Amino acid sequence: MADPSIAAALPADVPTTTTTTKQSVDPWNVSGEIGADGIAKAINYLTLIEEFGTKKITEEDLVRFEKVTRRKPHRFMRRGIVFSHRDLNLILDRHERGEPFFLYTGRGPSSDSMHIGHTVPFEFTKWMQDVFDVPLIIMLTDDEKFIFSEKRTIEEVMSYTTENTKDIVAVGFDPKKTFIFSDYEYMGGAFYKNVTRMSKMITLNVARAVFGFNDSSCIGKIHFGAVQGATSFANSFPHIFGDDESKTTQIPAMIPCAIDQDPYFRLTRDVAARLHFAKPALIHARFLDALQGPGSKMSASVDTSAIFMKDTPNQIKNKINKYAFSGGQETMELQREKGGDTEKDVAYQYLTFFLEDDEELAKIKADYTSGQLLTGELKAKCISELQVYVKGFQERRAAVTDEVVADFFARKKLQWVGNPTPIVTAKAPGEGEGVVEGEEKMSKSQLKKIAKEKMIAERDAERKAVKAVKAAGA
Ligand code: TRP
Repeated sequence: MADPSIAAALPADVPTTTTTTKQSVDPWNVSGEIGADGIAKAINYLTLIEEFGTKKITEEDLVRFEKVTRRKPHRFMRRGIVFSHRDLNLILDRHERGEPFFLYTGRGPSSDSMHIGHTVPFEFTKWMQDVFDVPLIIMLTDDEKFIFSEKRTIEEVMSYTTENTKDIVAVGFDPKKTFIFSDYEYMGGAFYKNVTRMSKMITLNVARAVFGFNDSSCIGKIHFGAVQGATSFANSFPHIFGDDESKTTQIPAMIPCAIDQDPYFRLTRDVAARLHFAKPALIHARFLDALQGPGSKMSASVDTSAIFMKDTPNQIKNKINKYAFSGGQETMELQREKGGDTEKDVAYQYLTFFLEDDEELAKIKADYTSGQLLTGELKAKCISELQVYVKGFQERRAAVTDEVVADFFARKKLQWVGNPTPIVTAKAPGEGEGVVEGEEKMSKSQLKKIAKEKMIAERDAERKAVKAVKAAGA
């Protein structure tokens, strides 16, 4: 279900789904199509691929991934949880040739404890770091969370920054290869230069078309896209990549993120092409359903929708038993006879995210669908998997001291190897480091909208210019 409290908490100028029944996914709001029965349907991720103009991760992509990395694709990739990309193939090409790229992801620190849905892109990013052995940059957009909230103070978001950093570190990132920064702290120098390079290339019309801002949007929001985008450029981090911009501007980022962040990077890719910087590549994850079922994502502001990383084993058990939407039948007899629906079943869905063993998962699915497995039994399996996952996390979290955090925040040189056995081509050194040339993928309707708004703006500007000339008596 679309969560009304989330919609109500949003400032009036951020698009919400309250007046529409269509599925809507943007950086501030995620809701499935509301059917005639008033119930939100599951998010249709294939529609999103089309709407956003990204590419589906295909079987062939997985085969290529395995060939280049010599690693079995992550279970998220095998199961369509990480389901879409922009230019993944170009990053694999680079890796194959031993050319540099880096990973970039982030979090808006908006609550003091992360939930199991928040850890999904981070788990995946950590795995990517292990697979590719490249630098990773993690951005904490405390400024974003201040600008986009009516109530939060700067002090509040900054305290979340510290707490969330500990959560993120507990996922298992390697401090020798990872730089974490807060916008409030890092803004300035090379990073700020890129922010302004980017903001100079984004007109109000484009920001409106991409993000849905309007005349009542504060200007901080309109500007923020330049901040999130500028982190995609390696020359924002001279302490990691050096300060030869002829080289650093050509090192692309690979951004693992949830699909709702795509609009920022669609815009960034467009600007990158005009700046002659490497375009960031993306790899997109779907959301973890709220306990209440598909159609909305887990939300930190709705306690009963989420399993938090600080929850006790008992809390996990109670939440799953009490709130996890079941795809099973009403009674045991009916379940035995008809079987359950794994597509709708939240406990099963969570197992697809967190249970590593493909065969075991397939057996659970077959047994649940046939009615051999009961809802209570399925929930028990989900509970024990989540308890193990959260416990492991909490043990690592307990070891994250302030010194460890400081090490991740330090502007130090990072150490990485990349591909130890690249395919050697006949190219001269440095020759392969061209701008990543992915086709630009704004959706048609978006391009049309931008073109139209541009035309209107140009016409307005013209009229004004004419007026001004007339007023000046020329
Ligand atoms: N805007 C994101 C959020 O609110 C944070 C973020 C910044 C991010 N840069 C990113 C997320 C890159 C994914 C990838 O959580």
